[in-house]
Amino acid sequence: MKDILTAPFMVEMIRTATNMYAHGWDERNGGNISLMLEENEVREYLDPEKALRTILTGFAAPELEGKYFLVTGTGKYFKNVQYAPEVNLGIVRLKDRGQQADLLWGYADGGQFTSEFPAHMMSHAARLKVNPENRVVMHCHPANLLAMTYVHDLDEKQFTRTLWQMCTECIVVFPEGVNVLPWMLCGTNEIGEATAEKMKTARLVVWSQHGIYGAGKDLDETFGLIETAEKAAEIYMKIAHLPRVNTITDDQMHLLEKRFGVKAREGWLD
Ligand code: 13P
Ligand code: ZN
Repeated sequence: MKDILTAPFMVEMIRTATNMYAHGWDERNGGNISLMLEENEVREYLDPEKALRTILTGFAAPELEGKYFLVTGTGKYFKNVQYAPEVNLGIVRLKDRGQQADLLWGYADGGQFTSEFPAHMMSHAARLKVNPENRVVMHCHPANLLAMTYVHDLDEKQFTRTLWQMCTECIVVFPEGVNVLPWMLCGTNEIGEATAEKMKTARLVVWSQHGIYGAGKDLDETFGLIETAEKAAEIYMKIAHLPRVNTITDDQMHLLEKRFGVKAREGWLD
């Protein structure tokens, strides 16, 4: 067996968690990441038949039975992931219609996956139906997106249009826009179900007064989505209290659609 700490998926996960911490998106234990792995890539590094222990998930996700995930641990600090991956991360395989997870590696101090596991797994199931290439769900607490949910209308179309207007390339990066959930109790199956429902139509879901969820085909794409939305929110928070003299018009957005071959969410542009 090869050393799992040299696996490309592990190296990328550690780099991403470290980078997210460096961006200030993951204070203390804030945020969590789940990366779906292929059985053949896992088999190079561990024996999937050897479970260290079994963890109950508290929900059912039959579509994900047999799937492998590299997931951040609950209560774990992103800043520490690079120094102790085996304590702060774990690899699980779902079984029993997703109601249980075999731990194959990690959570070495007796810990377990993130408390947001329901939102992650339900979002994976939802995104895989839209795009079979989806592999990542990422949650974090970027300050400007969070701030924006205190001062901006939470209507999804209005919220998205404001973000699109803040940087020219936003509409190119997330043409489907962002969906928004009102404040809800985190770590529950209910917020998991609500997030997954929103994931049917967008890869970004804002949790008001809490943070954001992103989904994508790899860690880079997902990080980049959140990075772009957060940059737009930062600009909004810099200008929201000032008179708006200029903006990006809907006609200009249509030019961007044509130039970059993207289609904005139906009905969200004039
Ligand atoms: P965990 O430490 O359980 O991953 O929770 C962090 C978080 O951001 C909850 O929303
Ligand atoms: Zn959170």
